[in-house]
Amino acid sequence: MKIFKDKQTLQKEISKTNGISFVPTMGGLHKGHISLIKQSKRFKLKTLVSIFVNPKQFNKERDFRNYPRNPKNDLKILKKLKINYLYIPKYKDIYGFKPKQKVFLDKFSKRLCGRYRKGHFEGVLNVVNRFIEIIKPKYIFLGKKDYQQLYLIKKHIERRKIKTKIIECKTIREINGVACSSRNLNLNKNQMKIASNIYYYLYNIKKKIKKNYNLFNINKIKKDLIDLGANKIDYLENYNIKNFKKLKKASKKFNLFFAYHIKNTRLIDNI
Ligand code: PAF
Repeated sequence: MKIFKDKQTLQKEISKTNGISFVPTMGGLHKGHISLIKQSKRFKLKTLVSIFVNPKQFNKERDFRNYPRNPKNDLKILKKLKINYLYIPKYKDIYGFKPKQKVFLDKFSKRLCGRYRKGHFEGVLNVVNRFIEIIKPKYIFLGKKDYQQLYLIKKHIERRKIKTKIIECKTIREINGVACSSRNLNLNKNQMKIASNIYYYLYNIKKKIKKNYNLFNINKIKKDLIDLGANKIDYLENYNIKNFKKLKKASKKFNLFFAYHIKNTRLIDNI
């Protein structure tokens, strides 16, 4: 595994390859990232992983400061996976140039997390657009846990006619059902149990409302989540995942999207 801390040496190296499979991360690596990397390796190009905690996608300074960082463990995982390249840029490497492409922000960015984290998706698309210009990857691997992010990145790529292809990867869960996330590192045992109970509760709700949409009683569900130990619910919404139209009745392909807080940790998922 070759490690790069500046883009000039990275670009020199990757110009010799016949294409890059790219897994962007903010570190705090877990089973979800491992699964993305394993998928990337199946594509038989060189796999490049980046670790960059992007300050521009945090709407709160405290959230940025508390974001889990575990560089030693990250390095151990990546070495074991035998990735080809690791890119750990400094802020200036990413933000010290003017990108050729303007970010396209689809209107869906105003929904779900966009309503609760002002500027978040602008920040995500800004950094992803810059990574694409630096690396020019053939593929980018993204997880469906962050479905809204994945959708918005796809829309940007489509609108700007960028040649990179997004590979959608399934959500990886802990044995207790909770979606793998770097933020889980901030949960203690009891909080993890709460997250697990919430997952199973909502999993069953989804099964029920698939049969009878009238059972989707949002106020009752929110109250139950608080009783289960959540401190605050940001949203609980059903969307048709093909076109991201909000659901009024059960359809074949819909997901229940939710975001909630356990103490200071904000968790998102979709089922
Ligand atoms: O999903 C993430 O970890 C981040 O949003 C990403 C895509 C690496 C951009 O900073």
